[in-house]
Amino acid sequence: HWVMADFIQQTISDIRKIVGEKAQVIGAVSGGVDSTVVAKLMTEAIGDRFHAVHIDNGVMRLNESQEVQQLLKQHLGINLTVIDGSKVFLDGLKGVTEPEKKRKIIGGLFIDLFEEEALRIEKAAENTPNAGKVEFFVQGTLYPDVIESLSFNLSDTIKTHHNVGGLPARMMNGQGLKLIEPLRMLFKDEVRAFGRQLGIEEGLVMRHPFPGPGIAIRIIGEVTEERVNIVRKADHIFISMIKEAGIYDEMAQAYAGLDSNRAVGVMGDARVYGYIIILRAVCSVNFMTAEPYEFDFKLLTKIARRIVNEVDGVSRVTYDITSKPPGTIELE
Ligand code: XMP
Repeated sequence: HWVMADFIQQTISDIRKIVGEKAQVIGAVSGGVDSTVVAKLMTEAIGDRFHAVHIDNGVMRLNESQEVQQLLKQHLGINLTVIDGSKVFLDGLKGVTEPEKKRKIIGGLFIDLFEEEALRIEKAAENTPNAGKVEFFVQGTLYPDVIESLSFNLSDTIKTHHNVGGLPARMMNGQGLKLIEPLRMLFKDEVRAFGRQLGIEEGLVMRHPFPGPGIAIRIIGEVTEERVNIVRKADHIFISMIKEAGIYDEMAQAYAGLDSNRAVGVMGDARVYGYIIILRAVCSVNFMTAEPYEFDFKLLTKIARRIVNEVDGVSRVTYDITSKPPGTIELE
């Protein structure tokens, strides 16, 4: 049984050995615990020779990219560039309703923008006196991802289940970068302990996982700016009230999504044909199976009331009580 502090020191010294005295390293950060732990580790090991890149894909939650910037740059001192790709992504998603197509478009654009930024960093690096070329690409792959990608290659999986899709392949083959995966031997709870030890705040350490394609796979049907904004507001109310109730850590994931249909509601004296919000909260150990969270009914109706009152255009709120299987955690 290893001691966490020793393991961190060992990992940092391994990273220094692998990267050497001059080379630079790039990596994508989402704001989730895995990529944040990796970014903090890299910063401890090689300082500003590590370049973190966060891409706002237009389907992040309310204020999420600003919060990533604040937390990683100001609070954790990570050398971070934030790229606002929201317009590019939303344009790319116009008219698309098929879930797998959404995933492919978001994954593809992500790689394009990341590669562009990597080349820019590489160019800038040529002029730095004390640093060498960008030679490495770092990723927060966990042990279960390693296992999953093995079975992924062996069978036809239902979904293209990867945060950053073909990013490693493109970085390694296209740009000749070498891949570093400092967390590949760890499970999620170990990464969380790792994060605490590195001084990352509890709110981030305990954050629910968030899928790479973001709220695009929580919106059934077309992803438009209007529909994204409605989901953002409803989700923000839902998650804030969950946190206020002190039950956030009791669930593995929770979110507000959107149905493609509309339903009638009465607002004031008028009948309106409004959006239907789908709330989902699940308990799960490994995300392969999941159970609906047993919400306190009073709290749930209070949340519903606030969403209908505060989010323009919403006439109904539903709670998804499907287990996985046969349901999935996301809506698409
Ligand atoms: P499902 O919906 O398949 O989700 O029950 C299981 C877990 O995987 C996450 N998920 C994704 N993560 N890209 C990701 O990075 C995806 O395309 C994707 N689809 C699902 C989901 O959030 C849950 O944790």
